[in-house]
Amino acid sequence: MFTFPEGFLWGAATSSHQVEGDNFFNDWWKWEQSGGGLDRSSAACRHFSLYKEDFALARSLGHNAHRFSIEWSRVEPEEGHFSQSALDHYSSVLDALAANDLEPVVTLYHFTSPAWFSRKGGWLKRANTACFCRYIEKMTGVLSGKARYLVTVNEPLVYAYHSYLTGVWPPQQRSFIKAARVSRNLLSAHELAYRIIHDRCGVYKNTAPSVSVAHHMQYFMPWRPGIWNQLGVFLRDMMFNRMFLDAAFHAGTLDYIGLNYYTRQLVSVEIPGLRSLLSGTRSDNAWDKSSLGWDIYPHGLSEILLSLRKYALPVLILENGIATVDDRERAGFIKSHLEAAAGAIKAGVDLKGYFYWSLLDNFEWDKGFAPRFGLVEVDYATQERRARESASWFSRVCRTGELPE
Ligand code: FCB
Repeated sequence: MFTFPEGFLWGAATSSHQVEGDNFFNDWWKWEQSGGGLDRSSAACRHFSLYKEDFALARSLGHNAHRFSIEWSRVEPEEGHFSQSALDHYSSVLDALAANDLEPVVTLYHFTSPAWFSRKGGWLKRANTACFCRYIEKMTGVLSGKARYLVTVNEPLVYAYHSYLTGVWPPQQRSFIKAARVSRNLLSAHELAYRIIHDRCGVYKNTAPSVSVAHHMQYFMPWRPGIWNQLGVFLRDMMFNRMFLDAAFHAGTLDYIGLNYYTRQLVSVEIPGLRSLLSGTRSDNAWDKSSLGWDIYPHGLSEILLSLRKYALPVLILENGIATVDDRERAGFIKSHLEAAAGAIKAGVDLKGYFYWSLLDNFEWDKGFAPRFGLVEVDYATQERRARESASWFSRVCRTGELPE
């Protein structure tokens, strides 16, 4: 039996576009209407109107914290025009979390941009970071004193990768140069937002705001021993796991490390060359996988957490979860990853919280509604919620802080 530290944050995460529904004014909505992705987000989980019920449910499941995101396109549907009703809405969301004793972790940008921002060139243009700053300034008016943990940008490199390198997400570009430019601009957007938040946000329960990104890390391993595969692992780890984090860290703009961990990658460099060094992967078919085909690999979480010790910063696991229709597999996934987290704490990692992805089944981007990530099942026809068995198992850990053998 392991007992997590006093004050540990336990909860689940969501993001605006994946649960709110009717986000008419963002780039994803437009892309879906033009046939992009497997499903349209439509009403999604109707969380925009059902948030109070959803937070009460999270509370009843023993959570003491909750991560959600602000939808920029609701707050600023037209360039320079802020919607008072959207600002009021997010203020009420924060109040509803407080009423349920759920500590908020607030993400300011989670993949979706206002359509007007994309039309201006989005994150490809350095000058557009000024638009983001104006939005962040506006949001500090709502957030000040109401949240301690803030996330400026969710998974900047995943966004750059899918939107500008593989091209499976809008605006469907495929250019290494553009992906690199977008990553650099997201880094400066983060750094600028970090300073604005620290300048303008007041304390929350006697603590200054604590700001980071939600950084997606994968555990890279060689598919087979060999120098080229090792080199591939080194490069992928450096580019995907390290570079952004190191740059933000050296700029002094991380108060904690927000970690999103799902899986490992088996790196296979068949013919030495830039492309295969950076993208060659293999799948071990014998290995247990989620319904999205991602390897279930808790040991990768241990390794990654241990590798973060060098920053000497607190760490929050902001996303960790599995898409599966076998709910026992979900409980097993959470347990094995919490064991990895417990081991890392024993080895000196200052882990402050764990957020399962996700509270609800939701709109999984280009994959649509089929992947089932939720602790809570959603019937999209009726919007009924039903907590799964895994949610009850997890709730015991949340309530007691104890991880049974
Ligand atoms: C992460 C995203 C999140 C969700 C999970 C499954 O990369 O941050 O929105 O889609 O993957």
